[in-house]
Amino acid sequence: MTARRLRRLSRRTRPFQESVIREMTRLGAEVGGVNLAQGLPDFEPPPELVEALERALESEENHQYSYTWGAPELRAAVAAKSARFNNIRTSSDEVTITCGVSEGVVAAVLALTEPGDEVVVFEPWYENYVPACALAGVVPRYVPLSEPGYRLDPDRLERAVTPRTRLVIVNTPGNPSGRVFSREELEGVARVCARHGLVAVTDEIYEHMWYDGRRPVSLGSLPGMEDRTVTLSGLGKTYAVTGWRVGWAIAAAPLTALVRKVHDYLTICAPTPFQMAGVAALALPDAYYERLRATYAARRTILLEALSGAGLLFAPPEGAYYVMADARELGWKDDWDFVEFLARKVGVVAVPGSSFYRRGGRTRARFNFAKKEETLREAARRLAGRSLRAKG
Ligand SMILES: Cc1ncc(COP(=O)(O)O)c(C=O)c1O
Repeated sequence: MTARRLRRLSRRTRPFQESVIREMTRLGAEVGGVNLAQGLPDFEPPPELVEALERALESEENHQYSYTWGAPELRAAVAAKSARFNNIRTSSDEVTITCGVSEGVVAAVLALTEPGDEVVVFEPWYENYVPACALAGVVPRYVPLSEPGYRLDPDRLERAVTPRTRLVIVNTPGNPSGRVFSREELEGVARVCARHGLVAVTDEIYEHMWYDGRRPVSLGSLPGMEDRTVTLSGLGKTYAVTGWRVGWAIAAAPLTALVRKVHDYLTICAPTPFQMAGVAALALPDAYYERLRATYAARRTILLEALSGAGLLFAPPEGAYYVMADARELGWKDDWDFVEFLARKVGVVAVPGSSFYRRGGRTRARFNFAKKEETLREAARRLAGRSLRAKG
């Protein structure tokens, strides 16, 4: 095919490239580095899930499509879990099971916007949000989180809203910021949504990972947000099964009806055996989540000590499992140079900070601690073994 003909194909893919996060995983494999780039646990999921999956595979019907909205058992379990953890009263009729939160984001943006509309994205953002906007033909309106500490300023949000704004995408606990937005910050978002008739799409995939008592608040639980919120979460992070591809979207029935139409034609359904095993995941006792948090807090300590020992600056994460670290004090001016150096000379793989910003993040790199302690200790050993100061 000629270059001219190729250029005529799919204009909508031009504003974005393949994921830098996933690219860094490939670089890690090439150089034999400790992969602290992609949020990819290197430990086993809970045995209860694997056993439930084995049982699910024994049942003939689980090898076929589930209902497109999701298996009734899992939708009921998600509704029960929302009351238990999120202070959201809902029912199976308002739950759609998706192929991970990634599909949920794309389905929500496609379902709830028209081409040419605007969608607010807080900066730094999780990589998938901007391509989701491009696929839907909508324009992202970036609202920077305030530094230091990535605070959400509702006045900044208010100023970004135009007559074309339809959605606000919120992520708490946040990737890469590590922020758990306070109730006051989220009340500010709720006020702006109510004033301008906006819908919030809230990505809460890290809902069970929070530290130092900073328990997250679900935006959809705030007064006035019941009918204007799509709450997304899933199995991948909480149960260390990112490959299972099961997530969910919870929204009032009129919004759910739109999301389900898009989901049906995007994927038909999430993989049935994994949905059935998800029922067992959501039945785990509170002790599971307490242990999860304690384990992650210990992993966080190892990584933060290693990063500060190496001279990097950061805001300690309040939730999720990422640290955005700044290398400017070490003389670095370009995040890609820094990340290449880390991978090839130090043997630790991170994600260039600029992939989470329009123009910022140029002296930053994102590290994650969804790893065994021994993996993090190996990364710490490598970081301590060599000066990270830029040459020249
Ligand atoms: C904020 C956020 N949302 C969504 C995802 C992807 O979720 P899933 O694997 O359920 O598609 C990730 C993965 O890193 C993430 O960090």
